[in-house]
Amino acid sequence: MRKAIFQLSILVIVAFLIASCSGAEEATLKSALKDKFLIGVAVNPFQTSGEDTASAKIIVQHFNSIVAENCMKSGPIHPEKDVFDFENADRFVEFGEENDMFIIGHTLIWHSQAPRWLFVDDEGNDVSREELIERMKNHISTVVGRYKGRVDGWDVVNEAIEDDGSWRKNKFYEIIGEDYVRLAFEFAHDADPGAELYYNDYNMVKEGKREAVVKLIKTLQEQGITVDGIGIQGHYYMDYPKIEDLEKSIIDFAALGCSVMMTELDVSALPNPWEATAEVSFGADYEAKLNPYPDGLPEDVAAAFNERYFDFFRLFLKHSDKVSRVTMWGVSDAWSWRNNWPIRGRTDYPLLFDRDFQPKPVVNMVIEAAKEKQ
Ligand code: GLA
Repeated sequence: MRKAIFQLSILVIVAFLIASCSGAEEATLKSALKDKFLIGVAVNPFQTSGEDTASAKIIVQHFNSIVAENCMKSGPIHPEKDVFDFENADRFVEFGEENDMFIIGHTLIWHSQAPRWLFVDDEGNDVSREELIERMKNHISTVVGRYKGRVDGWDVVNEAIEDDGSWRKNKFYEIIGEDYVRLAFEFAHDADPGAELYYNDYNMVKEGKREAVVKLIKTLQEQGITVDGIGIQGHYYMDYPKIEDLEKSIIDFAALGCSVMMTELDVSALPNPWEATAEVSFGADYEAKLNPYPDGLPEDVAAAFNERYFDFFRLFLKHSDKVSRVTMWGVSDAWSWRNNWPIRGRTDYPLLFDRDFQPKPVVNMVIEAAKEKQ
């Protein structure tokens, strides 16, 4: 009898251990969301090289897609006309492969973080249209070609449209004209026909921009270009955007036959007294009243923040037939760019993991909601 009780107890303990282990394994974002959409995160070289082990652990545990936060932008990867620096990008791709992740290259054509040489000749004058097209082609085919069959999707063009729907008057537009977008997609497709190709932008909830992006994608489609996905960056605030506006963009973009992705999600918990934007050149002066929580969020603000995040994820789950990926712009609050933009030196709380690398309540809320929707 005693032996039977002993054996039974062992069985119960083993069963408990198995249940709790598999429970622990299930309680991750990537496992809960696996039939819904990819869950991604922007990573930096400290994480892929193993220096920032706390972040790397979370990346591997919770995420099944990565995007290069900076190392694939044209400035860092192509600093001189005849010089490419692939060190960090190579490591980024290896990290994704080692962990069986969906790898996103970001970004081929963007006006910001571009190398100075790209647009000018030796005298500092703008290069000709033909020359800039040639340089664009060389840049895209070299970078995309190097990772052919390894990078799954590319943000081909970033931020070509202004909030009011007009073309951004960047150097590509000024020198080449509207066609630079089509050419960029063609060059990327030629370099790796198997890679998915995306258009990516911020403030996609603003009517002017939403409509202009729809028009741009339709024009590209008429020209025979396949745009696999539209990236909605998602650098958001507590009071911007309205969920209904974001929902409209998801529906309108999906109606074009493209996948929709949230590509750079972070939600500032701090006051936002200016018109919402994600324009990187925008800056505001530091004032203590705009940095109200240097020592942590008060309970009521933290609760509102979690609810706000959950509202976004509820929307993504509702439209998981259209949303193919949600990518966070960073792992933990400790390293988010939002601590320094649009005001330097604030203490912000925009991500899913706090400064001690602990998941915020919203992580579990999302996991539970995803399970319920199975
Ligand atoms: C834009 C870019 C990102 C990043 C953010 C700011 O959204 O697409 O790569 O630079 O600005 O960090």
